[in-house]
Amino acid sequence: MTEIVTAAAPSNRLKGRRIVITGAASGIGRRTAQIFAKQGAALTLLDRNAEALAEIARETGGLAVATDITDEASVERAVEQGASAMGGIGGIVNAAGIWLRGSVREVGFAEWRRVIDVNLTGVYIVVRCCLPWLTQAPFATVVNLASGQGLFVNVANRTAYAASKGGVVNLTRALAAELAPHIRVNSVCPGLVDTPMSANMGRDVSAYALKRIADPVEIANAILFLTSSEASYVTGAALAVDGGRTFH
Ligand SMILES: NC(=O)c1ccc[n+]([C@@H]2O[C@H](COP(=O)([O-])OP(=O)(O)OC[C@H]3O[C@@H](n4cnc5c(N)ncnc54)[C@H](O)[C@@H]3O)[C@@H](O)[C@H]2O)c1
Repeated sequence: MTEIVTAAAPSNRLKGRRIVITGAASGIGRRTAQIFAKQGAALTLLDRNAEALAEIARETGGLAVATDITDEASVERAVEQGASAMGGIGGIVNAAGIWLRGSVREVGFAEWRRVIDVNLTGVYIVVRCCLPWLTQAPFATVVNLASGQGLFVNVANRTAYAASKGGVVNLTRALAAELAPHIRVNSVCPGLVDTPMSANMGRDVSAYALKRIADPVEIANAILFLTSSEASYVTGAALAVDGGRTFH
């Protein structure tokens, strides 16, 4: 089996970078915050779960701002706080998201709208609020968490989630085109990842070439690559980090 690198060695790959991470209180966002701190980044951490957010902020030395990313005014305030604490903003990782199982027959309008609001509109709001600072940074990056479900759908009963994540993949491409050459914008499309979100998704990995669920660090490592200058020629990409699920 492939070795899983469980904690990137501190090597200052993000030294001098000022990054906003949403969804930082749990799962992939939380693991990303830990790795980014080790790589020398200054962090502003956004999540609606204030208690868990405070804990990861203490651990990483980041600024915690409890925020619902669907509330534009509150994101605007959070981002201003972050920019003044860090001295600017040069990157975003949009990891906040919600999961919803259900077909078009089952999911009502309110539930549909909530999923689109958080998973798609939330990304738009955070990027828009950060833009004045991203534009001033010497170079800047945005990494959006989409999903394998944003690249293909061969499983029934996840209409709203799949639509929201397909939206994130194409929003990413649109932003990459609009904000080039100064700001690189990419999405990461995970398969099944071992986080609280996937706890009741089922753990069938038979369709995955690597036959296992991902550790959150394996997604965070891809986010680190896309945020770092090692990915200096990568923009508009939808990077599948899915154990071979989308080709298998
Ligand atoms: N876990 C998986 O298997 C998987 C697979 C593919 C894609 N993803 C995507 O990766 C991202 C991270 O997922 P995760 O597994 O770490 O989930 P998670 O549930 O562990 O963490 C998500 C975080 O987002 C926060 N959040 C949700 N709605 C919010 C809102 N409106 N405002 C602010 N914060 C909010 C939650 O409080 C939570 O801390 C999500 O976008 C998810 O859709 C996850």
